[in-house]
Amino acid sequence: MKILGISGSPREGNTESMLNVILNSAKEFGAETKLVSLKDLKMGLCKGDQSCSDTKKCIISDDMDVLVGEIKDADVLLIGSPCYFNNVTANLKVFFDRSNPQYESQAWKGKKVAVVMVGAMEQSAKKGIEVLEDFCVIHGMEVIESYVAEGEKIGEVESNSEVMTELKAIGERLANG
Ligand SMILES: Cc1cc2nc3c(=O)[nH]c(=O)nc-3n(C[C@H](O)[C@H](O)[C@H](O)COP(=O)(O)O)c2cc1C
Repeated sequence: MKILGISGSPREGNTESMLNVILNSAKEFGAETKLVSLKDLKMGLCKGDQSCSDTKKCIISDDMDVLVGEIKDADVLLIGSPCYFNNVTANLKVFFDRSNPQYESQAWKGKKVAVVMVGAMEQSAKKGIEVLEDFCVIHGMEVIESYVAEGEKIGEVESNSEVMTELKAIGERLANG
């Protein structure tokens, strides 16, 4: 079982902690795991050219090409984002828009995906995670886990033992398919 984590946070904070806890737990249960943070990738904004509707290819060549290859190889995706204004981060929105060629070719249809979000206010993050879920559903992916945690400062999520227990359980479930 190959699980690819994708972090949409622009910092090494709660989102990366959540993804690492899930991935480390999945690893303990035999999964092969990798975490990619969008902040470390050079990914240009979608230019709205829309030739990808016909060609199923993006006119931009950058780190998105590498990420698309890694997504193809993964059995399960694990996408995480902090909640920004009841939404995902700009990093993740760039990824959404740049995925239009994969939408056009239905390349990710049927892929299993788990989504997590952290926000200072749980109610707000619950709205934000719907955006993330919608992205996956539009691509025809199967959302198998969806989890929201409350946290603002770096380390806050890690210090919440209930959240840690839940994240480890998600990792176990993902590893077991
Ligand atoms: C620009 C910005 C907008 C934010 N908007 C929200 C929001 O709408 N709702 C919320 O609950 N938290 C909001 N937050 C707080 C973050 O979601 C929270 O600090 C989160 O833990 C950050 O995750 P990270 O440590 O992975 O970056 C915002 C933070 C920033 C920097």
